Amino acid sequence: MHSLSADHGISRRTALTRLGGSALGLAFVNSAGFGLDTKDETLRPGLLKFNERSHSLLRQVLEDPKFSGRIPASAVEALARSENFSVDDLMLGLLPLAQTYARAPISNFFVGVVVRGASGSLYLGANIEIPGQCLGFAVHAEQSALSNAYMNSEQSVTSLAVVGGAPCGHCRQFMEEISPNGEILILIPNQPPTKLASILPAAFGPAALKATQGALPIRRANLALSGGGSNALHDGALDAACKSYAPYSKSPAGVALRTTGGRIFQGCYIENVAFNPSLSPLQTAIVQLNAAGQAYSVISAVTLVEMQGSKISQRAVTETVLAALAPQVKLEVVLARA
Ligand code: THU
Ligand code: ZN
Repeated sequence: MHSLSADHGISRRTALTRLGGSALGLAFVNSAGFGLDTKDETLRPGLLKFNERSHSLLRQVLEDPKFSGRIPASAVEALARSENFSVDDLMLGLLPLAQTYARAPISNFFVGVVVRGASGSLYLGANIEIPGQCLGFAVHAEQSALSNAYMNSEQSVTSLAVVGGAPCGHCRQFMEEISPNGEILILIPNQPPTKLASILPAAFGPAALKATQGALPIRRANLALSGGGSNALHDGALDAACKSYAPYSKSPAGVALRTTGGRIFQGCYIENVAFNPSLSPLQTAIVQLNAAGQAYSVISAVTLVEMQGSKISQRAVTETVLAALAPQVKLEVVLARA
């Protein structure tokens, strides 16, 4: 993990110099020093030391109008073949790309993660800090990539690559929920691979609070909206609530957000047995939006679906995070029942 810029995000110029990227990459530098304009999306692979064929394969993935941080298994195979890499080495090779998605206006510390799902797809993740808000609202890069695997209904996660250092304790705890058997393989550049179990011994796992299994695979709940008409945003948020993981509070919740371009991003609430590493549904949806290379300013509407009379509510945290990212948007809350 490197702090590469004095501003809010990774400096593309510095990153390129460091990574030996092509002249293409100069276009990465933007005045704000963080994020990338949508028009720059296809330039992201310029950061990687890959060959031309791999760059063009990656560009195809990133140009897909539905792209949101997932590299499908077929593209993963093609890339590994093109680079003559194992998938583990490909994951390590993709880390600088993942890192470009980091949004760290508070720490200026940019973390990139690549996760592999059982389907063979890879998921990019980066840390996201919420400007002006409590540090506890930050989503770690590991959580971001793992929640992306979750949102894509992976049956399990097999490995996780992270740039610069070992995952922090909070992330190890989050991984334990995704894979309570401790089998996730952790890949760190220039270090031998290790299993989660060896870096999180004596884990406090889901069983401590009598959950019978972890967050994956997803077990869908059957919820319905309590009243009111349905629309694409309500349906998206309801679907995310049905797919959410809330074994401890028994308070499922989901978010759907719409962009000015008409895309809808969903976010599931994902609980953790140690409570604090849990991801609120808006955090999970923001991860999806960010992985698609979209700015917060394109958020035009947000709906939260949660249960009538549930033990806990996501309303306050969702309103607070939304006010920090898209103050012009008023949260709509719709209630559901089993
Ligand atoms: N961070 C991660 O993304 N993963 C880790 O495991 C270590 C910390 C992020 C969180 C915060 O945005 C910044 O790095 C400083 O801690
Ligand atoms: Zn962490």
